[in-house]
Amino acid sequence: MSKTDAEATSTPSPETPVTAVSEEFRIGFRNAMSRLGAAVSIVTTDGPGGRAGFAATAVCSVSDTPPSLLVCINRNSSAYQPVTTNRVLCVNVTSDQHRALSQLFGGKTPIDERFAAATWSTLETASPVLEGALESFDCRIRDIFQSGSHDILVCDVVALKDRSEGSSLIYFNRAYHTI
Ligand SMILES: Cc1cc2nc3c(=O)[nH]c(=O)nc-3n(C[C@H](O)[C@H](O)[C@H](O)COP(=O)(O)O)c2cc1C
Repeated sequence: MSKTDAEATSTPSPETPVTAVSEEFRIGFRNAMSRLGAAVSIVTTDGPGGRAGFAATAVCSVSDTPPSLLVCINRNSSAYQPVTTNRVLCVNVTSDQHRALSQLFGGKTPIDERFAAATWSTLETASPVLEGALESFDCRIRDIFQSGSHDILVCDVVALKDRSEGSSLIYFNRAYHTI
């Protein structure tokens, strides 16, 4: 295969330049995404890289063979170094009782104050498991893909916590709702 053919069929690498867009278009995109309602999870980690956690809506299933999900994390997040050093995380799906907690984990609150506001345990990894979460997915990170300002973390689910009852906390139109 000639170099030109190889280039034509290769997938974009992390070095692929990000397409330049105007600030106006970026704001329009953020406004449009605010219309995409999504469940709020509190993603946590612990280990040699330290304890950290953040609120996340960019979480979705990848496959059941193996059981896996993905999480998108901003590389400027205070959780970025801990998560990528520990290579483990727990996705805690929030319920209506976690509205205040989600605001703490989704803001600039110091990390110890975030964790002091709830009760935690662990499963297989050292990642904190939130008491009362609708579900907790304890994960090991298998692959990390860089894309724009974020990394896409593909995670193998290694343990699950029993379901708790409750309504789901949803972020829509820049506000919390329950269903
Ligand atoms: C509803 C909501 C959803 C969020 N979803 C994500 C997400 O999917 N990925 C991400 O990196 N940050 C997400 N954030 C932002 C982080 O929670 C936020 O960067 C962090 O908590 C505060 O930054 P710091 O930890 O660097 O201080 C979200 C915030 C909110 C309020």
